[in-house]
Amino acid sequence: MDSRNGNSWLAGVMRRQIQGLTCFHLSNSRSVLSTVVVWEVVLGLVMVAGTLGLLFWPLFLTLSPAYSDNHDFTSATSYFVSFFQPTLPKFVPLVRGTSIQGLSAVQRFRSHVACFSEGGRWEYNDTVRAFPRNIAGDPHSDRCEVSHVFVMNAVAASQEQEVDLNASQRPEENWNMREALKWEWQTNSSCPLLPFNSNDFCKQIGSKRNVLFVGDSINQQIYWTLLNNLNKEVEDRGSRALPDEEIAEVCGDVLPGGEGFKLGFVRNDRLSLIPPGVFSTTPYFHEFPWVHYLKQWEIQILVLNRGAHYEADEVYTQALRNAFSFLQAQYPHILVVYRDTPPGHQDCMSFNAPIQERQTGVNMPYHWADFHAQNLLAKPIVEQAGYIYMNVDSMLSLRPDGHVDADDCLHYCLPGPLDSVINLFYNILRVVDS
Ligand SMILES: *[C@@H]1O[C@H](CO)[C@@H](O)[C@H](O)[C@H]1NC(C)=O
Ligand SMILES: *[C@@H]1O[C@H](CO)[C@@H](O)[C@H](O)[C@H]1NC(C)=O
Ligand SMILES: *[C@@H]1O[C@H](CO)[C@@H](O)[C@H](O)[C@H]1NC(C)=O
Repeated sequence: MDSRNGNSWLAGVMRRQIQGLTCFHLSNSRSVLSTVVVWEVVLGLVMVAGTLGLLFWPLFLTLSPAYSDNHDFTSATSYFVSFFQPTLPKFVPLVRGTSIQGLSAVQRFRSHVACFSEGGRWEYNDTVRAFPRNIAGDPHSDRCEVSHVFVMNAVAASQEQEVDLNASQRPEENWNMREALKWEWQTNSSCPLLPFNSNDFCKQIGSKRNVLFVGDSINQQIYWTLLNNLNKEVEDRGSRALPDEEIAEVCGDVLPGGEGFKLGFVRNDRLSLIPPGVFSTTPYFHEFPWVHYLKQWEIQILVLNRGAHYEADEVYTQALRNAFSFLQAQYPHILVVYRDTPPGHQDCMSFNAPIQERQTGVNMPYHWADFHAQNLLAKPIVEQAGYIYMNVDSMLSLRPDGHVDADDCLHYCLPGPLDSVINLFYNILRVVDS
């Protein structure tokens, strides 16, 4: 074989191969590149999604609101949604639904309310007097008749005889009251607190000025306490289950022409603005629609609260902003009173008198020790929106006595410390109208 031929043969093969490669490369380079890019992108996305998927639960469990050591998907959703709804209630120098206008009038009003709600103290008064008995039928208080009997029927209760609930109407005969009932909230002489007067309360509100309470089971207890103070029995609810909404007509016997007003309650632990027909009941939250009642029941006064069903600060404050922005825009005439959240008390059955300082401590269950900090977050949001902040935390944080029993150191017995909340509400309305 001629070496040159051999060389040329080899050279020919190489040339053809190079040509082939070159041709292949030239004709297919675009599709190869784009195929590679597509696959890399797909792979990248899969990896990112996988990583996020792996990270989701650790991130969620770390960052999402914790309550009762649990996390549910509703709260996850609202937690993430809360970052994308930066709605702020507009600042207004007035108290909505009242004639209080202008910065100095608003400040005067608020410092007066702060004086009697924050600046008081509990004082013992064992002068014989009557108490509103639990005719609204708060079921939490049923257990109180066993744990700390209201009247002199201690003997009857211990012998499992029927307790004479009417006895509270005859205080002279029955002044062996629960100790919790003998304490009164005394305020500075510059801001006296008038004792609750049901006829005057009816007149303060007035005909057809309908009132709606929305919030948790403590707001429901406060609603019942108001009914008790108005001496208004609500209809028998059979099983004594907690109704999630109810409404009564009150004060028709006091106001001219027999025209009273509606007094309603809707349970919504988160003040969520859910549409009518949607109900959400989980072990942690009862959320019932309430917004449509504002129109349907022609509500003029709203008493709101949120807080005892603890969620993270961002979720809590965002929910308030959402609710207030909505109310500001849609119902600017409504007088809104935001009631803050009193804590439950550790070891409540070991107290038979008020305390001097609120309980604190990392061991408090159900985030009770965190409520106060959230109240402080709520106050400026409420006031910025032109609403009334009703501080009951100052009074009730000092009342470890008067709770239901060892299994429920959050709710109170009716009658009991919550009667002072009704008194506060009454006095706020008096100041508003004066
Ligand atoms: C104690 O209660 C009675 C009856 O309500 C009242 O007349 C009296 O002023 C109260 N005492 C004090 C010191 O507030
Ligand atoms: C309680 O009072 C009501 C009305 O005043 C009466 O109808 C009822 O029979 C009384 N109950 C008892 C146990 O005395
Ligand atoms: C109580 O009222 C007096 C005047 O009546 C006032 O000087 C004092 O500062 C008030 N104290 C509080 C704690 O508000």
